[in-house]
Amino acid sequence: VRVHVVGVGMGPHHVTPEAAAALARASYVIAADKGGNDPLLALRREIAAAHGLEVVAVADPERDRDAPADYDGAVRDWHAARAAAYAEVVAAREGEPAFLVWGDPSLYDSTIRVARSMGAEVSVVAGVGAPALLAARFGIVLHEVGRPVHVTTERRLAEAVAGGQTNVVVMLTSGPPPEVVPDDWTVWWGADLGTPYEALVHGRLGDVRERIGLERECVRAAAGWVMDTYLVRA
Ligand SMILES: C[S@@+](CC[C@H](N)C(=O)[O-])C[C@H]1O[C@@H](n2cnc3c(N)ncnc32)[C@H](O)[C@@H]1O
Repeated sequence: VRVHVVGVGMGPHHVTPEAAAALARASYVIAADKGGNDPLLALRREIAAAHGLEVVAVADPERDRDAPADYDGAVRDWHAARAAAYAEVVAAREGEPAFLVWGDPSLYDSTIRVARSMGAEVSVVAGVGAPALLAARFGIVLHEVGRPVHVTTERRLAEAVAGGQTNVVVMLTSGPPPEVVPDDWTVWWGADLGTPYEALVHGRLGDVRERIGLERECVRAAAGWVMDTYLVRA
């Protein structure tokens, strides 16, 4: 069976004609249900409804978060459990499923890997990811002319800076840029990009670090959730 992995950007206004065409070919949407009040599941439901698709919500398998010693192994097991749960849904239904991926499927998203491990033929549609939207909001290029940009997670930011990276996009954050990034670097920060709660801060890191922390909490309070991405440059 063919599985459509469709990047939907940061909401219904980012669903491209190419994404809409893939959804027109699909028969239903599979979505992970993480339990509780999941705002991204609600958004997926909204997009699916707009394209006349039923959402099959699949309870997300428990992830062993107490296994930091073997993080990669724990993630692998979790992906395998997800793939098995989705394969069961696919076996029980007619037609091709679609997965709606927040942002772009190529960055910090496991859907392509999980779909492949279901043994499916995978067809991917690109979406507007957080780094692209951050750059657009500030009207910047993510790197200087002909220079590289390093994309990483907050978890690996310290090793990136220690390793000599001087132009870094950071995702999977848990707070404002940590102290491992020197005060005299410049930051471009964006939270809940593409939503009505979007917040942006730009400046010398030492001057705006605290403000980013405060804005982050304001966005969380207003929207009920916060996801942020930032570029830091020496
Ligand atoms: C699991 S990753 C998914 C990334 C997504 N595939 C993309 O293309 O942006 C989640 C991380 O993406 C970033 N992110 C996702 N949505 C965002 C938004 N609306 N505004 C700012 N950052 C966002 C945050 O760094 C968050 O921790």
